Amino acid sequence: MTFVVTENCIKCKFTDCVDVCPVDCFHEGPNFLVIDPDECIDCTLCEPECPANAIFAEDELPDGQEAFIELNAELAKRWPSITEVKPALPDADDWNGKEGKIDLLEK
Ligand code: SF4
Ligand code: F3S
Repeated sequence: MTFVVTENCIKCKFTDCVDVCPVDCFHEGPNFLVIDPDECIDCTLCEPECPANAIFAEDELPDGQEAFIELNAELAKRWPSITEVKPALPDADDWNGKEGKIDLLEK
């Protein structure tokens, strides 16, 4: 099992999740974070920390978010690790909750 970052992180990237992960399994892209499924120990700590409610257990993903399982695994291999909190993206609060953000994912 693993936890998965889903669509609502896109263009928000609050990074509160990074602060609590005991095994540093977050990786950072231009406007999205992903979890490396090979590193995640299912500790559950990050899930309640995300202001965008974007993190879910793999087997509790909301409908329509299934593609993010593969996206997290794929992008974690390409993107650098992030271990420290940084400021959220500009307009993160405006983008929080918007639909259709998967089309804006920058890889
Ligand atoms: Fe890290 Fe735990 Fe979240 Fe997995 S569940 S990404 S180990 S904080
Ligand atoms: Fe993204 Fe939420 Fe972390 S918006 S960067 S998953 S705190």
